[in-house]
Amino acid sequence: MAIREKGAEPGSHIGVHWKEEDYYEPRPSFTAQANLTDESVFERFSLENFPHYFEEYARLLDWFKHWEKTFDDSNPPFWRWFVGGELNVSYNCLDRHLKDRRSQTALYFVPEPEDEPIVKYTYYELWRRVNEVAALLRDFAGLKKGDRVTIHMPMMAELPITMLACTRLGVIHNVVFGGFTGKAAADRSMDAGSRLLITADGYYRNGKWLDHKAKADETVKICEEHGLHLEKVLIWQRYPGKYSSDTPLVEGRDYIINDLLPRYRHQVVEPVRVKSEEPMFLMYTSGSTGKPKGVQHSTGGYLSYVTAMAKYYLDIHPEDVYFCMADIGWITGHSFIVYGPLSVGGTTIVYEGVPTYPDAGRPWRIAEELGVTIFHTSPTALRSLRKAGPEEPLKYQHQFKLMVTVGEPIEPDVWRWYYHVVGKEKAVIVDTWWQTETGGFLIVQAPALQKMKPGSAGPGVMGIHPVILDEEGNEIPPGSGKAGYLCIRNPWPGAMQTLWGDPDRYVRGYYAKFNKNPQSKDWRDWPYMSGDSAMQAEDGYFRILGRIDDVITVSGHRLGTKEIENAALTVPQVAEAAIVAAPDEIKGSVPHLYVVLHPGYEPTPELAQLIRETVAREISPIARPDKVFMVPDLPKTRSGKIMRRILAAISRGDKDLGDVTTLANPEVVGEIQAHVQKSLR
Ligand code: WTA
Repeated sequence: MAIREKGAEPGSHIGVHWKEEDYYEPRPSFTAQANLTDESVFERFSLENFPHYFEEYARLLDWFKHWEKTFDDSNPPFWRWFVGGELNVSYNCLDRHLKDRRSQTALYFVPEPEDEPIVKYTYYELWRRVNEVAALLRDFAGLKKGDRVTIHMPMMAELPITMLACTRLGVIHNVVFGGFTGKAAADRSMDAGSRLLITADGYYRNGKWLDHKAKADETVKICEEHGLHLEKVLIWQRYPGKYSSDTPLVEGRDYIINDLLPRYRHQVVEPVRVKSEEPMFLMYTSGSTGKPKGVQHSTGGYLSYVTAMAKYYLDIHPEDVYFCMADIGWITGHSFIVYGPLSVGGTTIVYEGVPTYPDAGRPWRIAEELGVTIFHTSPTALRSLRKAGPEEPLKYQHQFKLMVTVGEPIEPDVWRWYYHVVGKEKAVIVDTWWQTETGGFLIVQAPALQKMKPGSAGPGVMGIHPVILDEEGNEIPPGSGKAGYLCIRNPWPGAMQTLWGDPDRYVRGYYAKFNKNPQSKDWRDWPYMSGDSAMQAEDGYFRILGRIDDVITVSGHRLGTKEIENAALTVPQVAEAAIVAAPDEIKGSVPHLYVVLHPGYEPTPELAQLIRETVAREISPIARPDKVFMVPDLPKTRSGKIMRRILAAISRGDKDLGDVTTLANPEVVGEIQAHVQKSLR
C-alpha cells in the first residue's frame, strides 16, 4: 500500500510503501541489564530543563577543568557548549580506562581474508600505540593543536590509532572515506588547508587487493596544481614491515610510518588540554551545491554527546563486544566505531572488508567467533545479506542483545528478518536517525523504555525535541498524517559548530529557512532544519521519508546531485545532466542519470559507458549511475531549474507525475517517459 500525500508538502512525492506496524517489546532479560531504565528520564529532559539536563552527558567524561557555562547562546546559531571546560579526547577514550581495564580488549582488527589472524589490542596496547604515533606526529611531522591533517585510509586498526593520536595533540583530523578518489581527498585537503596526508599502501576489498597509495600521488598532484603544497605523505603498511604497493615512494616526501615508529618506541605524550569548544574534527559531506561541506565538530560537546548515546542507546557496557560494520570514513564510524564505544570502555571491532565476503555468513561468523553482543549495520547491508543468505544466520551460535540500523528507512519486511532471523527474536532493534551534522542520534526509541515499531525510528532521544514544520514554519501536529520538514526545536551538544570556512552557508543551509528574526538571541527562534522530510504518528514516533534537498542516498551514502552532475559534464559530449535516485531491491536506491547531448552527437552504448565510468572515477564507484538515459531535453521550471522530482517519478515508474503544466517545456515529459519505459523493459 502506498501512502501518498496530496498537495505541496515537502516529501509528498516520496512514496511510503508500508503501513503503521504493531509494536514489539524488549525482552525482560535485556531490560534487566540495560543502562537506561529510569522511567523519569524524559521528564528530567523536558524542554523546561534545557540546557541544564545536558550536564548529565558532560559528567560522563573526565575533565581537566570543569566548564563554567553550560550553554552559550550569545551568537545564534553558533552555539557553544560547556564553555571554559578543558579535556582531552584520547585521555577519555584510553587513559582513564587503564586503571580498571588495562588488559581488556579495546579493539579487534578483522582482516577480510578469512585465513589471516584477527589482531587484538588491549586498552594498554592501544594506549601505547596511540602515544607513539602522537609522538611521531608531533616530532616528525611537526603537528600541533589546531592544525588540520587529512587521513585517507581504509578500514585498518591504524586508522583509529591515527585519529586518537591526533586528538591527543588537539590536531583536527579530516578523515576521507577510503573508497573515495585521490581527487576527493585533494578537494577536502585544500578546503581544510591541511599540509599533511596520512594514507596506507593498500587493502583488501571483496577479495581483491587494492593499491591505495596510488591515490595519494593523485591527491598531492591536484593539490600542487591548485597551490597547496602537501609537505609530507605518511604511509601505513597493511602488512607491517612490508611495503605492499606498486607505487614508488617519492624521496623526501613519502615516509613509511612503520619504519619511523621504532624511534618513538614507548614514548608517552602528555594529553594536550583542549578547550571544550575547540574543533575536534572535520567531516566533509555532500551538499546541494557541488562543493562538499566541511562539517566541524567540537571537542567537549561532541564527545559528551556520543558517549551518552553509546551508553544509553547502544547500551554498551565494558563487557560488551560491539561490531559496527560501517566505515570509519563516515560519521557513523567516527561516532560509533571509535569515539563512543571507546569512551564508555567497550570493545569495538574494525572489519576490513565487505559484509558478504567470501559469503553471506561472514558477519555471523565474526560475531560467533568474537562473542559479539551488539551489532550495527545499515538496511542496505541487511538487504544484501538477506538476499544472499536468508537462512545463513541460523547456522551460527551468535546471540546479540541489541541490533542497530542507520542510514536509510528500513522496510518492515527487512526489519522483521533482522528481528526474527538475525536476532533470533532475542535482540532489541534500534533504528537510529541522525546525520553527519548532528554528531550522534536524534531520533531513536530508548531500547529498554520504549517499544520498537518497524519502519519508524521512534521519538526524540533524551534531550532532543523534534518537530515537523510546514513550508511556512507552522507546526504539523502528530497524527495528522502529513509530511513536512523534520526540525529540532533545541540546540544540543553533539551538533556541528559551523561549516569550515563557510559560516554563511551554515546559517543558510540549516537555520535561515525557519528563523523569523535574524536578530533574535533566543534559541527558541532557531530551530535546526535537517533537510529530511518526515511524518509523526499519534504515538509520537517519527517515520523518516527521505531528503528534501538535492542529495540522494545510495546504499546509505549521501551523494550530492550537483557533484555527480558536474562529473558527468566533464564528458565533452554531455550538455546537461540530472541525477535522481531510483528504487533498488538491494541498495535501497541507485543513481539514474539523465543527460542531454550536445548537437551532432548520437547516443551510443559506448558513450553511456564512458559517462558511467567518468562519474565513478571522479566521485566514487558508489556514485556510478546504474542507468544513463540520453534524452532530448530535461524538464525545467520557467526559471530554468531542472525538475529532478519529475525525473525521479519517471525512474520509479510512476504513472501519475503530478502537475507538469507549470514547466517551461511540459511536452518533453511524455517523451522522456516513453524512452525510459522502453529501456527499462
Ligand atoms: C538518512 C548518517 C531513515 C537521512 C548517520 C539523513 C536515515 C541522512 C536514517 C544522513 C534512519 C540516516 N532512517 N533515514 N534511521 N539515518 N538517514 O550524514 O536522510 O551520512 O538526513 O549520516 O541519512 O546521512 P549521513
